[in-house]
Amino acid sequence: MADVEMTVNGTVRRATVEPRLTLADFLRLHCELTGTHLGCEHGVCGACTVLVDGDAVRACLVFAVQATGADVTTIEGIASADGELSTVQAAFRDHHAIQCGFCTPGFIMSVTAFLRDHPEPTDGQIAEALSGNLCRCTGYQGILQAVRAAADQKRGHDARTS
Ligand code: FES
Ligand code: FES
Repeated sequence: MADVEMTVNGTVRRATVEPRLTLADFLRLHCELTGTHLGCEHGVCGACTVLVDGDAVRACLVFAVQATGADVTTIEGIASADGELSTVQAAFRDHHAIQCGFCTPGFIMSVTAFLRDHPEPTDGQIAEALSGNLCRCTGYQGILQAVRAAADQKRGHDARTS
């Protein structure tokens, strides 16, 4: 067993866990933050994406012990404290980028990190950024529009709808 301690959505979380426990299972089982979804559990689908020290990381590929000392943000920590949706969350809602919603937390986390690093993305950069997350429902058009709109919104422009 190994001791882990990390900050998750602003709260310090400590536990003694098996070294093989993934960060995804630590978040879901020990922190009861089940918005981090597990699809493939081997790094393909992106549903488990969280932010670790600001970087988008697949929580199924990281052991909890590896995240000791890290600052982790999950989908539950993306909205503001008063419940106001983040720019990316609101854009996904407004552009119908959600159907069943299983993939959505992973997309939100990936896009949040992407737009921070690419505040003026090209359509090609957006497509490349989204290629690491799989969605079985939406056909991606709504998701692409949501990312464009969120990028515009973050730059203070009116969101494009085309
Ligand atoms: S569950 Fe982690 S990438 Fe699919
Ligand atoms: S909305 Fe269902 S998998 Fe993406």
